[in-house]
Amino acid sequence: MQRSENLETTKELFPTFQRQVKATAVPRVPTAIPGLDPLLQGGLQRGDFVLLSGGVGAGKTTFSCQFAYNGAMFLNEPAVFATFEEDTESLKRNMMRFGMDLDALEKEGKIRVLDLEILEGQGLGSNMEVLLGALDKIQGKRLVVDSLTAFLTGAKDKFDYRFLMHLVYKTLKREGVMTLMTISKMDLPNAEAGIGVEEFVADGIFQLESYVSESMELKTRFLVRKMRGCDHSRKYHSVAFTQEGVHILPWSA
Ligand SMILES: Nc1ncnc2c1ncn2[C@@H]1O[C@H](COP(=O)(O)OP(=O)(O)O)[C@@H](O)[C@H]1O
Ligand SMILES: [Mg+2]
Repeated sequence: MQRSENLETTKELFPTFQRQVKATAVPRVPTAIPGLDPLLQGGLQRGDFVLLSGGVGAGKTTFSCQFAYNGAMFLNEPAVFATFEEDTESLKRNMMRFGMDLDALEKEGKIRVLDLEILEGQGLGSNMEVLLGALDKIQGKRLVVDSLTAFLTGAKDKFDYRFLMHLVYKTLKREGVMTLMTISKMDLPNAEAGIGVEEFVADGIFQLESYVSESMELKTRFLVRKMRGCDHSRKYHSVAFTQEGVHILPWSA
């Protein structure tokens, strides 16, 4: 059956479902990660909360640092980067290799790098307070937590976690802060990016996946799994590690 005939049938079957769709222009803010914004109709919406999942070495730290750094550097969007995975010194050293001078931006008050490991054992509540306090101080517009998986090890029980996440989610949304949190996950085929707590639903889920190409090379691919309010790309894209960090490119096997 032709597509138009299909549409006609649908109209007959569901006449009350016909409605006029108004094209409303939603202001979107570029992520400023090379190659990503065209896949998201221009970027994210203020207050969006996005999860970035991926296995070891897939590029989560690099990607999320670019989100914070490029926003602060080029778009006048101060950012807080909370690291749980690496200490701040090694993070700064590694990111410097991609030309991201976090120290310089920190001195200008445009970025704040927090090593939350120091707060280990103090509970999730005080960690969240530190994050929100740091955002307040620099009038932050972007927040990165690398990784949520490590961050949550401080959560004693699920209730504690859900309650706090919900609170933070609402606070960040109200203040228009765009948040990116990474999730460490094994690269299993078709594995969901789930974090085991279904109640907490992110606005978007990005996936970085390592795979072995036909030429037996370890490569990385990228997929927008979900992005609320956005007619996003549904294709796999190739990821290149360049001198400036990750670049999202059209698919090539
Ligand atoms: N200077 C560099 N040039 C090119 N690729 C690099 C460089 N440094 C790291 N990489 C690549 O990035 C990967 C690590 O990225 P990272 O963001 O730390 O991943 P994750 O946080 O997901 O573990 C490395 O495994 C390597 O393939
Ligand atoms: Mg990492």
